[in-house]
Amino acid sequence: MHLHKNESTVRTAAINHVLMIEINNAPINACSISVRSGLRDAIEQLSRNPDVTAAVIIGTGTTFMAGFDLREFGQPLQEPQLPGVIAAIEACGKPVVAALHGAALGGGLELALGCDARIALTGTVLGLPEVTLGIIPGAGGTQRLPRRTGVVRALKMVCSGERIKAAEALSLRLIDEIVESDLKQHALALAASMAGRKRRIREESPPPEDAAIVEQAAQAAVWAGKGRPAVLAAVEAVRNSTRLSFDEALAREREVFQQLRVSTEARALRHQYFAEREAVRLPAEVKAQARELRTVAIIGAGTMGTGIAIAALDAGLSVVLLEQDAAALDRGRQRVVDHYQSRVAAGKLKAGIAAASEARLNPGTDWAVLKQADLVIEAVFEDMGVKLEVFRKIDAHAREGAVLATNTSYLDVDAIANATRRPQDVLGLHFFSPANVMKLLEVVRGAKTSADVLATGMDLGKRLNKLPVLTGNAFGFIGNRIYNAYRKQCEFILEDGAWPEDVDSALQTFGFAMGPFAVADLSGLDIAWRMRKAQAATRDPRERYVAILDQLCEQGRLGRKTGAGYYRYEDGKQVKSTDEVVRSIIEKASGQRGIARRTLSAEEVQRRALLAMVNEAALLLADGVAQRASDIDVVLVQGYGFPRWQGGPVFWARQQDRAAMETDLQQLAVKSGYGFTVADLSQLLNP
Ligand code: NAI
Repeated sequence: MHLHKNESTVRTAAINHVLMIEINNAPINACSISVRSGLRDAIEQLSRNPDVTAAVIIGTGTTFMAGFDLREFGQPLQEPQLPGVIAAIEACGKPVVAALHGAALGGGLELALGCDARIALTGTVLGLPEVTLGIIPGAGGTQRLPRRTGVVRALKMVCSGERIKAAEALSLRLIDEIVESDLKQHALALAASMAGRKRRIREESPPPEDAAIVEQAAQAAVWAGKGRPAVLAAVEAVRNSTRLSFDEALAREREVFQQLRVSTEARALRHQYFAEREAVRLPAEVKAQARELRTVAIIGAGTMGTGIAIAALDAGLSVVLLEQDAAALDRGRQRVVDHYQSRVAAGKLKAGIAAASEARLNPGTDWAVLKQADLVIEAVFEDMGVKLEVFRKIDAHAREGAVLATNTSYLDVDAIANATRRPQDVLGLHFFSPANVMKLLEVVRGAKTSADVLATGMDLGKRLNKLPVLTGNAFGFIGNRIYNAYRKQCEFILEDGAWPEDVDSALQTFGFAMGPFAVADLSGLDIAWRMRKAQAATRDPRERYVAILDQLCEQGRLGRKTGAGYYRYEDGKQVKSTDEVVRSIIEKASGQRGIARRTLSAEEVQRRALLAMVNEAALLLADGVAQRASDIDVVLVQGYGFPRWQGGPVFWARQQDRAAMETDLQQLAVKSGYGFTVADLSQLLNP
């Protein structure tokens, strides 16, 4: 055996007449330029070297190849490109085996499908997630996949970006063999057993399928993918596998891939991807070692407390759950138990794992148990008086060095911290509902919060499989502050002439899953009502205040849970248009402000709502509430339903004409009245 170094990221070695080609490009063996040229050289070596009869391509480290290097996608792609590498494998007269472990995703799966056989270690995941990045597979994935799986299954896989496990891949004939261990040895044996025969997928035809079923699958894929351009293109590309010759379809796939790669949508999705990776990084001045976390105490077993408990249990932490009385505690405990039972019943969780999680839950009403906790998370009512009282008690019971957190949505974290004798140990951990599902976690830095406490908050976020984002302590932090500005603008729009359904449908067209009024109905209008009442005394009377929500609440219309809010609900389903009661409340509000109601176009609604967000984002960035502009996009996309493919409000703003935006912001200020501060957009617009 002799070692031959091609490129630093691809190594080759001949073992018993088989050329072993190792991809070594940590951490994910991304298909970057050095890997592609290394592979090309290795295939050339395979063709030329009379001593080798076959090759194995394998990844070093934890994975085969988990995708592309996304940074290259923003620029012109350098040669050799992946289709060329795969063409070389197919053109070479000797068989090549792909030996898979970890992940074979995107280009990784395309490369594997371009080989003559595939063997996988159990636990390998395979998939073509390109559409989730606004593109389609561009190296034959849409052509070789259906030749094995059939068009119907390929449509689902490509259009959803679904990842499948090795066992399913075997049954779909995407791989030829699964092994439990010794992947390299088994791959060598497979390569030797092929006796020099090529088995190119390109020469196969997709299995015959019923045209009507294919049509149905195509429609289902478009529907599930919300008709996004990449999904439409993916449907077209996969269907070409039965309509065009292999080479024609392959060329067409590449052409569409190249177009989509530089589209705004793909750029937005790449922006989100990088923004999420960046968000978890703390600024240099607060880099510190996180404190150790084993036991979390949660105070308040309501909606949030139980959701946080489940998230912590799922991450393997022990959880102490505290309530004010036995009845509330029992309701909370039951919610956690019900959650695990329903997961088990749905076949989504093994009974043993559920039982182990439940066994780590320790519900109680005696505060003495707080001593065991490394971290205490308070999730009681959103009331400063109650929170201060609770924090005094936490201070009395928690051990020295424990991290103390509040899940408050709006309240001043410093005031809460100062209720204790250890404000350096206090921070905000703002979870989103349902807390065991939503990825976002705002980690709120108080004036005195110490660096290692912040590091512990970020660390907890990662351990709970969430996206922690650092935010300053200001009303509403990042997310609620921007969302409030947005919702307020939407209320102005109601008074100016639109109905709630006009606003909601305009914003749904933009891409939000739900419009702001449907969202308000879903969360319950009483939360906002209570807050408005609490703020009434300090509200500046010159502000434009829209009282529509208060009047709905006064009539008992608290949202979906009472059968009516902005909309009425019949059998739990929203009635599309608003009823006379709501319309007359809105008309009266317009009248009282002396507004002659007019029709607003969907574009105007969208622009006003988005500009309100952008303006608030610029203000809070200038205030230092967000440490970087891209964090704002992560918060809005992950926590508030801002469409991912629009990149977030900051990305959106960067696509607009600045002068026009500034002019419109001046007008928005006039429409919004007293209290609307026009932001300087410079910092926000400069990446
Ligand atoms: P909730 O009303 O469902 O639960 C609060 C729980 O705290 C109740 O079970 C109550 O019995 C308990 N509690 C009250 N005082 C207590 C005390 N002194 N000692 C022990 N337990 C006590 O409220 P929810 O919705 O769970 O909210 C909790 C906190 O989370 C609030 O600060 C809220 O602003 C915040 N939050 C809520 C979100 C939501 O969507 N519901 C989202 C993010 C944050």
